[in-house]
Amino acid sequence: MKSNREIPWFIPVLDDADSEAVRQTVVSGFVNEGPENRAFERELQSYFDVPYAVTMPSCTTSIALALKALGVGHGDTVLVPTVTFIGTASAVRLTGAEPILVDVDPVSFNMDPADAARRVQKNTKAIVPVHLNGRPAALPALRKIALKHNLAIVEDTAEGLASKSGEGWLGTLSDAGCFSLAPTKIITSGQGGFVLTRREDVRDNLIRLRDHGRLSRSSDVHPVTGFNFKVTDMQAALARSQFKKLPGRIERSREIDRRYLDGLSDLPEMIFTPRPEDGGYLMWPDFKSKQRDALVESLKAQGITLRPFWPALHNQPAYASSSAYPGADEASREGCWLPCSPNITDEELDRVIDAIRKFFKGNK
Ligand SMILES: Cc1ncc(COP(=O)(O)O)c(C=O)c1O
Repeated sequence: MKSNREIPWFIPVLDDADSEAVRQTVVSGFVNEGPENRAFERELQSYFDVPYAVTMPSCTTSIALALKALGVGHGDTVLVPTVTFIGTASAVRLTGAEPILVDVDPVSFNMDPADAARRVQKNTKAIVPVHLNGRPAALPALRKIALKHNLAIVEDTAEGLASKSGEGWLGTLSDAGCFSLAPTKIITSGQGGFVLTRREDVRDNLIRLRDHGRLSRSSDVHPVTGFNFKVTDMQAALARSQFKKLPGRIERSREIDRRYLDGLSDLPEMIFTPRPEDGGYLMWPDFKSKQRDALVESLKAQGITLRPFWPALHNQPAYASSSAYPGADEASREGCWLPCSPNITDEELDRVIDAIRKFFKGNK
């Protein structure tokens, strides 16, 4: 039967198994950070084949603490792409350091290594490449810059959970990889995140920063300064339950993207930039169009929500800069995400496709 329900850009999908996982944690009486977090960390280590996973309240705090764990702080600068969610840059400021905005490639939407090389300063300590939307950042080129200037690399993998490049899982290819479990991500624990690392020193520093400067909660001695960035076991239980759905969700994301490509990629007004290869996938199907804003408005009037890319950080009041970022200006002006909730139906996808085709036909 045809439905006319509104089609949101993205909504989280939770089920009875998720409720039951949280309920069981509440019933157990242990709601602090504990066994559910340890179990989730072990599952992540095994899935991504990395020695260390550390749960965190968000990707923003994951990036901030990973940078701190690598020694970044007041007086330092960190390279971040200017097309990203603002949390990437705010995480740098949380450490006391200052982000240096770098232009992006208007095809991959990821940090442009040539521009990154140009913007390194004496006090630059790290690079935070973003794997935007699951597309692998140009890590081989960025590693050369990092090596030359002795910079740490922290991957912002908020949008790249279980996406891959030819080198392996995104978020496992540098000093630390930071992930998000916020509600617009492929799986969610309400809010949440984690760091993956192969470095024991980084893992230990993360644990100290997360829990008041100590490695073990059974000690009341606090050798260094730490904070409280712990995740409750209720959230970890939800994260574990959602994590079980990840392979199925990735498969569905690929199907959704394929259906949009089949239905729309012949339109000259829409540019579908290359999709990731080597086992990668897009968390949210994207395109560029010079008519983006009019298209978004037209579909909104029909109950269909498309999400335009964020304004680039150099155009945000909090990070305003007059430097030139031509690639980023194009990406943020023309980039857009198509509706892709995990439970969107094929019939709804076809409604979106029809509405877009009609829009461009009418605008000829
Ligand atoms: C690229 C990117 N970086 C960082 C974040 C911040 O993640 P969180 O909301 O978990 O702090 C997000 C989330 O939207 C994101 O998309």
